[in-house]
Amino acid sequence: MRTVASSSDPLHLSRRAGLVEPFHAMDVFAAAGRARQAGVDVISLAVGQPADPAPRGVREAAISKATEGRLSYTNALGLDELRQAIAQHYRDSYGVVVSPARIAVTSGSSAGFNLAFLSLFDHGDRVAITRPGYPAYRNILSVLGLEVEEISTAETGYLTADSLREVHGRKSLKGLLFASPANPTGASMPEEALRELVDVAAELGIALISDEIYHRLNYTGPDITAAAFSDDVVIINSFSKYYCMTGWRIGWMVLPENLVRPVERVAQSLYISAPEISQIAACQAFQCTEELDAIRLRYQQSRELMMDALPRLGLPLLAPMDGAFYAYCDISAYSEDSQAFARTMLEQTGVAASTGIDFDPIEGHKSLRFSYCEKPERVAEAMERLKEWLNAGS
Ligand SMILES: Cc1ncc(COP(=O)(O)O)c(C=O)c1O
Repeated sequence: MRTVASSSDPLHLSRRAGLVEPFHAMDVFAAAGRARQAGVDVISLAVGQPADPAPRGVREAAISKATEGRLSYTNALGLDELRQAIAQHYRDSYGVVVSPARIAVTSGSSAGFNLAFLSLFDHGDRVAITRPGYPAYRNILSVLGLEVEEISTAETGYLTADSLREVHGRKSLKGLLFASPANPTGASMPEEALRELVDVAAELGIALISDEIYHRLNYTGPDITAAAFSDDVVIINSFSKYYCMTGWRIGWMVLPENLVRPVERVAQSLYISAPEISQIAACQAFQCTEELDAIRLRYQQSRELMMDALPRLGLPLLAPMDGAFYAYCDISAYSEDSQAFARTMLEQTGVAASTGIDFDPIEGHKSLRFSYCEKPERVAEAMERLKEWLNAGS
């Protein structure tokens, strides 16, 4: 019998792996799971994913493809049919003409970030993101050996061209990645601010990446795509949020022409292609607006409930809840330790929320993110439980 050699020395790990922070929210997540197992009626307002399944037309297309049997690789940039459907979506929803040749289908927007960063930046380049912001931005940039500059959006709720100019003036930036509507705040950029940001980035030679994953979940105005202002912006989007397809791992990029071939080459080696079944299913997603808008209407009801309740509970909003499905609020009237606060809140009320430290390493100990993907009655119940709890403690 062969024995497997083992050494007393642990396997040598890369320094880069150590740069990736864990999601602290996962601690709350695990605690919520344990509480649920112990019979607690947990209301989870922690996760950023829709409670609803993918729309019927999407599921039917997937079932039909799976029944047919064979699933294959596709072109690295995706099936022509899906690239055309996405291009059509830009015409229908934004009035913007985008050639299907500039569209790359990806395994969720997460793969889009890797492809954009690897095609645009070299090791050591400096890339700006917003603070607070989606934590994976910082983690992916760091693990790829890029220098991360975080720009606070506390003042306006969104990134301004002036703050970009100021940060670039101190030490030059190669790129900027931002989202509107944003996670964790839900804040959206006004059209003029977005146009100005696109112009200033072009003037300063900064590559702009616009994460538009929360489009179609804007409650205060129309969606504005950065693609409307320039063909040189990289747009990243996904079927995960409005389309309720998180687990299907499918998204897309709109690329400047000179980036199409580099992204294709990197994608061929990193992923080969996005899953064929998800691509075929996603072709139907743009036809399911009625079903998806009914879900969006529920988010709107929950949003109004939360927007009214949280400030009354002494948890003022840190940014306007324009879109996505999040409320980001200030807990400093009660605590300066968001992790401990979230843990106690879960233990004493059964309500789970995400701690701010995942989104903001500097100020996040004073904030929590509540998501409102849950049904409105559950959101209302959560707000009632918090009211009782916070009043009892004051
Ligand atoms: C702002 C933002 N971008 C990207 C993602 C990743 O989404 P996916 O990889 O499912 O498309 C998320 C997920 O929560 C997000 O909040």
